[in-house]
Amino acid sequence: MGRLSHSLYCCVFIVFVTVLVSSDVPTKPKVYTLNLDLPPEERWMHIVKDFPQLAEIADTITRRVIPEDVYPLVDQLAQELDKYLPEPFAQEIRGIAKASGADVGGIVMANLFYEATAFCTSIVAQDTNGLIWHARNLDYGGKYGFTEMLKNITAIVHFQKGGKTVYSAVTYVGFAGIVTGQRPYGFTISIDERDQGAWWMNALVALLDRQAWPVGFLIRKTLEEETTFEGALDRIVTTDTIAEGYFIIGGANSSQGAVVTRARLQADNIWKLDIPNGRWYLVETNYDHWVDPPATDNRRTPAMKALNSTGQQNINKGTLFEVLSEPLVVNRHTTYTATMSAGKPDVFDAWVRHYNGQASKRLPEVLQKKFFKIEKNTLK
Ligand SMILES: *[C@@H]1O[C@H](CO)[C@@H](O)[C@H](O)[C@H]1NC(C)=O
Ligand SMILES: *[C@@H]1O[C@H](CO)[C@@H](O)[C@H](O)[C@H]1NC(C)=O
Ligand SMILES: *[C@@H]1O[C@H](CO)[C@@H](O)[C@H](O)[C@H]1NC(C)=O
Repeated sequence: MGRLSHSLYCCVFIVFVTVLVSSDVPTKPKVYTLNLDLPPEERWMHIVKDFPQLAEIADTITRRVIPEDVYPLVDQLAQELDKYLPEPFAQEIRGIAKASGADVGGIVMANLFYEATAFCTSIVAQDTNGLIWHARNLDYGGKYGFTEMLKNITAIVHFQKGGKTVYSAVTYVGFAGIVTGQRPYGFTISIDERDQGAWWMNALVALLDRQAWPVGFLIRKTLEEETTFEGALDRIVTTDTIAEGYFIIGGANSSQGAVVTRARLQADNIWKLDIPNGRWYLVETNYDHWVDPPATDNRRTPAMKALNSTGQQNINKGTLFEVLSEPLVVNRHTTYTATMSAGKPDVFDAWVRHYNGQASKRLPEVLQKKFFKIEKNTLK
């Protein structure tokens, strides 16, 4: 009798595990610190060493993605990195290339690729205590079949000076720029792609001729040098970029939340939280917020619906993760989900997603607690 009930418990446990594994059980990316006091060439070495597949990825990107007519421009860029890329990116890219065994051109192209093809959902929201929250999904590489590859090089990096974190990022290793970042007690920032048609030629010409900024480099420089929401917003609005984009920024003080819609040479629109008028969150996907998203790619409506039903009083790390786990919002191209809050920096976190048609909406920590309970039951 006792043995029977014991094995029944085991059966239940195994079935439960199987169901969870076949849905999206998020996994934790590796976490690193990067020492900004080191020379730029040396900063990424210990991280790149953990990802031996990097050289192959750079090579695959080059072969599958880069149109041949821009090869000469990439060559020119790789030959004279210091002339075209702002400090410290040229030196860091050389260091990454050296540590990974890839050639410099390949790493340059990987760096540019990462900002050419991101589809994503970003949310900035204020809770009823006035705290600003920021969360995002990064959907990537679907068109090129790179999604799995990018999940495998996802990492959290804390950029430190004097042993203290100046800013943190969720990133793909090999990328010197940042697309998801937090400056503690300053601001949080993410970028979503804005469709811009033929990209490579225009972007490279802008970089070589006008020294406009790759967006990932602009975000990193902003995280490094600006200390407030207003400073970050101003820098993003006024800097020429090689790509169009939606920059989502959250602050450490109430009401500080904005989406900047950028063209290459100007900001087309600045959209802000407006608490007195009930606009307590902004959702940005990959379409101008003032037009309806196409019916074939509407991630905005499910995200808004989920935020509406969550309610401003219930916004936290767990509920934002749930909103970003709504089907469509999370999808087969989602590489990671990140949560941030400049006013409460320990909220900064990320999970690699493995969506395959079914999303688990709970934070992995919550899932683990459930496992633990059942395991204990089986021991009785
Ligand atoms: C990702 O990493 C896992 C585990 O290390 C490995 O099994 C898988 O083949 C990798 N996938 C890709 C696309 O590199
Ligand atoms: C928040 O507000 C305080 C007081 O108004 C100000 O001193 C501080 O700079 C603000 N912080 C940010 C990050 O904007
Ligand atoms: C969410 O709530 C806002 C404010 O009440 C409303 O304007 C909007 O239509 C709602 N959106 C969805 C998708 O439920």
